[in-house]
Amino acid sequence: MKKKRKSGKDGSLLKDVVAIGILICFFLFVVSLYFKEPRGQRVFVKTKTEKNKKRLKTKVIAIGDVHGDEDVLRRLLFATGATDKVLGEDVKWVKERNERTVLVQTGDVVDRGKDSIGSFTFIRDIRAQVLVPGDEDDVDRRQIRLLVGNHELMAIQADYRFVAKEELVALGEAQMEKYGEQVKIHPDSTIGKKALQKVGLLRWKKLFAPDEAFGKEIREFGSVVTVAGEGNCKSAFSHAGVLPEHLKEMKIRSEDYDNTDDSGLKKSLDKVINEHYRNSSKGVQMSGNSWQERSRLPSWINGGDGVFWTREPPDASETNGGCDKIKEIVDLLGVKRMVIGHTVQWQGMNSICGGKLVLIDSGMSYAYGGRKREAFVCEGVNGVPMAVDTNGKSRRI
Ligand SMILES: *[C@@H]1O[C@H](CO)[C@@H](O)[C@H](O)[C@H]1NC(C)=O
Repeated sequence: MKKKRKSGKDGSLLKDVVAIGILICFFLFVVSLYFKEPRGQRVFVKTKTEKNKKRLKTKVIAIGDVHGDEDVLRRLLFATGATDKVLGEDVKWVKERNERTVLVQTGDVVDRGKDSIGSFTFIRDIRAQVLVPGDEDDVDRRQIRLLVGNHELMAIQADYRFVAKEELVALGEAQMEKYGEQVKIHPDSTIGKKALQKVGLLRWKKLFAPDEAFGKEIREFGSVVTVAGEGNCKSAFSHAGVLPEHLKEMKIRSEDYDNTDDSGLKKSLDKVINEHYRNSSKGVQMSGNSWQERSRLPSWINGGDGVFWTREPPDASETNGGCDKIKEIVDLLGVKRMVIGHTVQWQGMNSICGGKLVLIDSGMSYAYGGRKREAFVCEGVNGVPMAVDTNGKSRRI
């Protein structure tokens, strides 16, 4: 049958052969194009995308010490245009055309207020919306960056002195619900509350353990300092402030880094500092011997004058040479200024040392009274640091 059909339709067979031939030729042509593509052309294509990237206007938003106030965190992100609404589960990151927004949280998301876990979760959820594979590899160049504050450090060192009792009760209740409420604890009784706090603390400990999400976040992906912004907005952000003596303690020499070529053989200074931190915090376990763990960390991390605890930068003055140190570190990092949180500025965000140091902890959390609720914003090449409040009103810092 087949043979008969074949011989009977010689004309169409010829057509088929020609068609297949043309298809094969076309396929080979396409394949040859791919393999013959000169290297130069590929480089050209890459440069073109890089140029496109460069044309994006950069906007830097920094949020200081949240301290368990998820509500103010949500309001500030909305007021700065980073998100599309304040409340709800489905808050979306706003992707502006021709603009790349970098969000830096300068540490101390947790403790004092009752929504530490909620605040942490909210930022992580927003970040998940913008994480691209490249960002995943390069923590220090992510679009949304979380710095470590002394309170995050306490969370991984089993220091729970500042965890809000109210939050522990809530965590305890949620945990009991998971157990199917087999044991009813009444939160109105003192003993009941204490019991719930104990259960809540177990939950808290688990969340910040080395292999858990928040614990990993602080140890492996946490940063001491990050550089963001372009032109006049290019700033280094850190929690309490990096000083020249910290670099000495880390034994970082000028030949160990290169700020000018991030893709080159040497890393920029901020990356080198963060690597030192991550190498040190990796081994931090929470245990009954937490004080031992604490003392094992180098003093530039754990000391009262260390990068997470020092009060020296906000106290800096020209007379005791404090501002000279700030200028030195700002130059070493290759930025216009250093931006820090950690020390509450009751009058709101402000700057010292001729604008080289910007202080952005406005005490936004309700736990502090939340009188000044401000975010740092700097936009474009010629931008200046602005304080934006929850109503979207802005002023120069
Ligand atoms: C961190 O640890 C890695 C792996 O041990 C090592 O290669 C790297 O040099 C360390 N970085 C610093 C800054 O000490």
